[in-house]
Amino acid sequence: MKLLFIGDVVGSPGRGGLAAVMPRLREEHAPDLIVVNGENSAGGLGITEKTAKDIFAAGADVITLGNHSYRQRESWDFLDRAENVIRPANYRHANPGKGLCVVRVNPADGGPAYQVAVINLIGKIGLDAARSPFDEVDRLLADLEKSGAADTVIVDFHAEVTSEKVAMGWYLDGRVAAVLGTHTHVPTADGRVLPQGTAFISDVGMTGARDSVLGVKKEQAIEKMRTDMPVRFESATDDVWVMGAAIGIDEKGLATDFTQILEPAS
Ligand SMILES: [Fe+2]
Ligand SMILES: [Fe+2]
Repeated sequence: MKLLFIGDVVGSPGRGGLAAVMPRLREEHAPDLIVVNGENSAGGLGITEKTAKDIFAAGADVITLGNHSYRQRESWDFLDRAENVIRPANYRHANPGKGLCVVRVNPADGGPAYQVAVINLIGKIGLDAARSPFDEVDRLLADLEKSGAADTVIVDFHAEVTSEKVAMGWYLDGRVAAVLGTHTHVPTADGRVLPQGTAFISDVGMTGARDSVLGVKKEQAIEKMRTDMPVRFESATDDVWVMGAAIGIDEKGLATDFTQILEPAS
């Protein structure tokens, strides 16, 4: 089975870029499952039902989120209803939405179907985790083992610092198919399959304008940093790229290969 994982979609330029590039990515990687981080899809901050619809229309099967999950108030109710949109599992249990979903995947090669659990976790360092992501993922994996609900697990680890992400990769090596880092919007060069069969990268990067500071208009980001005054951020529009990874997964639920995706939209 082939997984296509795409990093944080930023605003309408990101959503447009995703829609434009997806046919190319489909042709090149023939994905059976597409997971997209949508935490910045609504004007750069959070998600709405409409921006989720756009991402699903571009081909996503599952949308993951992160620290901006609740920035759009209208999404709170949507997150409770949406089946395949997940927020960090180690947020408070009472918060809207859920942190894990299971999807059935029928591979195009005609092989047996997979039951894939997608888990969203948030890092503890510099972000607001309610519980340790390490303890949380242990608990979720134990639950999945007991229930038999999934044979393959994919983790979007939304975290600030590379050390915490690398540690999570090693912690889960051989236990899940992939640990994909998101949040920093800057792709790292450490993508690979770890020795026990888990695909890992510290950060896949973003889907948005590279002529920017992390997707925000660069003049606005610079003004904020230079003045420490409130500045309204808008999503930048120029030089949109789609960043992510394509990962082969075998019938044991472990990764066979890792390909980084850095694809200009035009
Ligand atoms: Fe983000
Ligand atoms: Fe984030």
